Amino acid sequence: MTSRTAVLAHAARLARHAPSILNTQPWQWHIGRHTAELRPDTSRSLPYLDPDHRLLLLSCGAALHHATVAIQAQGRQVTVERGTDPLARLTLGPPDTPRHTDLAAAITHRRTDRRAFGSQTPGDEIIADLRKAVAAHGLHLRPVRRDELPLLAAATSRAASDAAHRPGLRAEVATWTDRPTACGDGIPAATTATATPRRVPMRDFAPDATGGGFSASPATSDIGARYVVLHGDRPDDWLRAGEALSALLLTATVRGVACSPMSELVEAPWPRTILTTLIGTTGHPYLVVRLGYPADDGPPPAAPRRPETETTHYGFTDASPHP
Ligand SMILES: Cc1cc2nc3c(=O)[nH]c(=O)nc-3n(C[C@H](O)[C@H](O)[C@H](O)COP(=O)(O)O)c2cc1C
Repeated sequence: MTSRTAVLAHAARLARHAPSILNTQPWQWHIGRHTAELRPDTSRSLPYLDPDHRLLLLSCGAALHHATVAIQAQGRQVTVERGTDPLARLTLGPPDTPRHTDLAAAITHRRTDRRAFGSQTPGDEIIADLRKAVAAHGLHLRPVRRDELPLLAAATSRAASDAAHRPGLRAEVATWTDRPTACGDGIPAATTATATPRRVPMRDFAPDATGGGFSASPATSDIGARYVVLHGDRPDDWLRAGEALSALLLTATVRGVACSPMSELVEAPWPRTILTTLIGTTGHPYLVVRLGYPADDGPPPAAPRRPETETTHYGFTDASPHP
């Protein structure tokens, strides 16, 4: 393996840690001598939850951003061409001063944290940092005000109850919850939130399950949680939104802020309309993210990842333009 291939292989390896809808990890990497191509893995799509592959693309965007950060942190320039097939082609440029080393270091310890958050609330300076991280990808961040929380909560709970009445969707979510360890994917029950009250309800991954999951006691009832809406100027920028989501989550991790993405409000047209009204701009909402500081010490359990051999393939057919 040449040093250039090793840089790309390392990037694809780190990109496996990207967040994805139901931890489906719906991506494939093809590594050449100086390029890495990212393709969607539609065999891991979710026909009920995500029939148009929007959240699949958003997940691929997060993997793309993880990979670019990993390349830049290794001291190489990289150019990204976005398309449909491949979704993105990353071409290595010449050596450069290492950049984003803090974000790259955060990749392996960032986790979706569904625990109840304590009373400390992420301050406006944190939100400003996250906004800047997202803006670098052409997206926007709209913090949800306290007086808007009841609307966010009501819309989320209504979206969840509608989803619960769709047997196909329920079965799909159940299929991806608490899978055998060997699969290396899906949502472990130990990382979910139980149906105890929160200011804004969390997704109930396994309504029929007993045991497992984080509850919210009255003392830690998620009181300090802050919510932000990731939105953009175009309705179909899902790949870019994923890149912005990754930038947001990694920046938050560097700043010691725990996060959990929440997509229930963008999965069906009418809750997405409510979210559009709530943000009060002409923008298009892509995702809600809950931010805060968990009341418990230590990290939450990690979600598994697929073996590298399932997601990364090597084939040296590309010419080599860079020394
Ligand atoms: C597009 C997208 C949508 C997501 N939606 C939700 C959600 O609605 N509720 C939730 O608890 N987690 C959600 N997540 C978080 C994933 O479940 C999580 O990234 C995945 O299980 C892997 O775990 P990790 O983030 O700890 O690595 C979402 C993540 C992505 C990228």
